[in-house]
Amino acid sequence: MRSVGSSNSDPYSATAAAAAALYGPLHGGANEEVLRMLVQIGSKDKVPEFIKRVKAGETRLMGFGHRVYKNYDPRAKIIKQTADAVFEVTGKNPLLDIALELERIALEEDYFISRKLYPNVDFYSGLIYQALGIPTDMFPVMFAIPRTSGWLAQWEEMMTDQEKKIVRPRQVYLGADQRNYVSLDKRK
Ligand SMILES: CC(C)(COP(=O)(O)OP(=O)(O)OC[C@H]1O[C@@H](n2cnc3c(N)ncnc32)[C@H](O)[C@@H]1OP(=O)(O)O)[C@@H](O)C(=O)NCCC(=O)NCCS
Repeated sequence: MRSVGSSNSDPYSATAAAAAALYGPLHGGANEEVLRMLVQIGSKDKVPEFIKRVKAGETRLMGFGHRVYKNYDPRAKIIKQTADAVFEVTGKNPLLDIALELERIALEEDYFISRKLYPNVDFYSGLIYQALGIPTDMFPVMFAIPRTSGWLAQWEEMMTDQEKKIVRPRQVYLGADQRNYVSLDKRK
């Protein structure tokens, strides 16, 4: 929102950019990926095998880790309770048992402890959205809607800031000084 908004584009475009940044599987799209992962694991007894693959670097445990929270995501504690409250009304999501087993094993494993990887809010939010009957593709939309008010507050604060500057990430080119052009037909 701030990066794109800093060029004085309109708030709709900056919101669209923020939504695009949010939906990636490493960020707000993670809840969708958590569900796909749980479905792919299939049953509780397959969890140790999956954890082995994560530790071998073959795949990531989606819904774990955070760029900023390097301990238990405080929101994860709250959303876990919310999940229980939702399941009391909707009936338990059958994927929950796999998620709980994943969390139990991961929290005991040195791989996750030494890297400070704990469940984040996405680990449970997907299970809640699914129990509510929301289609998986729409999860990031659900995530984005409440954030919009915060994004717009950020935008307004930035626009009224006397010291506002356009965001220009600095890049230092470390590549070759000179590269000769090779015509297409001569390339391998
Ligand atoms: C959120 C995330 C991008 C933060 O990444 P980060 O703080 O930049 O951490 P890094 O990518 O530098 O990872 C640090 C180490 O932990 C490992 N790691 C990080 N997240 C991991 C995960 N979810 N599963 C397995 N390993 C993970 C990395 O492989 C790396 O290991 P290495 O040091 O042996 O190479 C990352 O934790 C992730 O991809 N999580 C899964 C997606 C997710 O749930 N996103 C929602 C966030 S709210």
